[in-house]
Amino acid sequence: MTDQPMDAEGGYEADSDRDGLGFEHRSVMTAEVVAAFEPVPSGTVLDATLGAGGHSEAILDARPDLDVLGLDRDPDAIRAARERLARFGERFVAERLAFGGLRSAMSDHDIEKLSAAIFDLGVSSPQLDRAERGFSYRHDGPLDMRMDTDQAWSASDVVNGYDEADLRRIIHRYGDERFASRIARAIVAARPIESTAELAQIITAAVPAATRRRGGHPAKRTFQAIRIEVNRELDELSDALDDVIGALAPGGRLAVLSYHSGEDRIVKDRFRAASGDCDCPIGLPCVCGAVQTVRIVRGVPRTPSAVERESNPRARSARLRVVERVDIDRDHGAITTARDTPGGPGGRG
Ligand SMILES: C[S@@+](CC[C@H](N)C(=O)[O-])C[C@H]1O[C@@H](n2cnc3c(N)ncnc32)[C@H](O)[C@@H]1O
Repeated sequence: MTDQPMDAEGGYEADSDRDGLGFEHRSVMTAEVVAAFEPVPSGTVLDATLGAGGHSEAILDARPDLDVLGLDRDPDAIRAARERLARFGERFVAERLAFGGLRSAMSDHDIEKLSAAIFDLGVSSPQLDRAERGFSYRHDGPLDMRMDTDQAWSASDVVNGYDEADLRRIIHRYGDERFASRIARAIVAARPIESTAELAQIITAAVPAATRRRGGHPAKRTFQAIRIEVNRELDELSDALDDVIGALAPGGRLAVLSYHSGEDRIVKDRFRAASGDCDCPIGLPCVCGAVQTVRIVRGVPRTPSAVERESNPRARSARLRVVERVDIDRDHGAITTARDTPGGPGGRG
């Protein structure tokens, strides 16, 4: 199935012209995330995509009974978030880890269960705005695009190393790009390609002149696709969502902000699977094998308000999905959430 763009004008590059000297990132749908976590039990919240720490800060401010464990694989993000959130003292800890490191981080910090978790997928503004990180078609830089700056594999390996069919596949799948074939062919013909400006110019020339004037920068979708491939952004996501659902305390909530249809489809599928489409009658043992571990808090994903969409172009394509952990005692037809558990789950320690 072809990925459909959520918002042809949206995407992260729209306001990346500004000077990115500090590590600044305008968090998306912060009020909605804080509201979604209002009913969660006391304890620890996982911020799996810490970035500049905006969501963590809002959660820590809103709920003095919650701590935050923040993860990010970008060392700049970890440094910036630690500085920004230092005022919360022991209520905030950060680890430079990818999603796969979640369980080890929980065990290192003696966290048995999570009260909530947030994934705010995609890139942060500083990753895009700093030319030397090589994410942006607007600033000339090396073909890099690595979130984890120690990773050996970079955009140059994809652009200069993939064969035409693989380039076409990723540009089509991760970029929702209808001119994927033409772009892949042009990239292969122009190799070696050294810089983001060179790549952007090759893509622009490959796209029919009539479409260059519509739908934002012609290189936007291809850059998004290469970035997703370099960082294997979708590969870890399904497993990480299952892992987090398994770690939530009863009544704990998982909120995910996604920005393109490939991400959102994974989130929707995992949530649907975990909400267990079991047909067996409540009160009788389940024979179909489906196990419900969450309830979907709202069937239709939330989107940003008109005001936020207007003021923050990066928010335009955002979709917020939330699930709540339930423990079902099928034999007795009971659903347990934190509200049934005096004192809620344990936090750290
Ligand atoms: C959109 S930003 C998060 C912004 C943050 N919510 C805020 O309010 O400042 C996404 C962050 O997630 C990180 N990230 C993306 N995929 C990751 C992964 N698989 N493991 C760890 N961090 C990841 C990126 O490095 C980036 O800093």
